[in-house]
Amino acid sequence: MHHFTAASDVTDLPALLAKAARCKADPLQWSTLGRGKTLGLIFFNPSLRTRLSTQKAAHNLGLQCIVMNIGTEGWQLEFEDGAVMNAGTAEHVKDAAAVMGRYCDIIGVRSFPGLKDREEDYQERVLEAFKKYAGVPILSLESATRHPLQSLADLLTIEEYKQVERPKIVLSWAPHPRALPQAVANSFAEWIRASEYDLVITHPEGYDLAAPFFAGHTVTYDQNEALKDADFVYVKNWSSYRQYGQILSQDPSWMITEEKMALTNQGKFMHCLPVRRNVIVADGVIDSADSIVLDQAENRTYAAQAVLATLLGK
Ligand code: CP
Repeated sequence: MHHFTAASDVTDLPALLAKAARCKADPLQWSTLGRGKTLGLIFFNPSLRTRLSTQKAAHNLGLQCIVMNIGTEGWQLEFEDGAVMNAGTAEHVKDAAAVMGRYCDIIGVRSFPGLKDREEDYQERVLEAFKKYAGVPILSLESATRHPLQSLADLLTIEEYKQVERPKIVLSWAPHPRALPQAVANSFAEWIRASEYDLVITHPEGYDLAAPFFAGHTVTYDQNEALKDADFVYVKNWSSYRQYGQILSQDPSWMITEEKMALTNQGKFMHCLPVRRNVIVADGVIDSADSIVLDQAENRTYAAQAVLATLLGK
């Protein structure tokens, strides 16, 4: 594995999951693996879990970590090849990424989509530029279209909690007052496919994910039908892919409530966090014994640790 930006970067997913489980069982077993090496984490957008868990993972591996909120503290970057830079942008990504590559052995990048230009977002302009110019492995900390570290942690959590070999896993849209990226939902669908589980995706009309992400999964607009006998209910808002970046519905009946969870097979409630309580999910669900959101957040450390160890050649 040279970069970690999508499920397709992983050649042996069961082995990576086993490595993450090993990291959790004994977090300091490879505490000298990263000695003398530096992980750079650059953020174009805010973060709590990704930032802290990846730093903790680096620490467990003996990696030095340097962090920069490039979106607010760095020079404004230019991404156009051949641009005449006589306007707002002060530094070309060609130079900035190459310089960071001289300081770091691995670079993690968080860059959300603009949600205005679908083609530009789905080309992953920022991530691809870092892959092209940094000269070191690139770790996605959530890109325009995917959040692979989150998905790996989610799969680890499902492995820990599943009671049957092939649990029923549901991904449900829920309402949100702001337009959010499709990245978490895209990634969850992609990684569930890679793990060879079945997935039922439910959302209102107009919220279909891009075809490569929902392909092979069951899609229904009937949330109650989807939730029936579910073992895991992963809830997330995303804006429309088709009417790109738009909010088409704020229907509160899609919020996950105790009544909805009663349709499941005492299903586990999952969400990547941060979450808008009593908009996405009722307090009674997220605070219940069947909520595993904190396990997901905890597992972010071990997912990141397994990936970093792999990028370091372990
Ligand atoms: N789930 C997640 O990525 O959280 P942050 O945005 O806080 O990093």
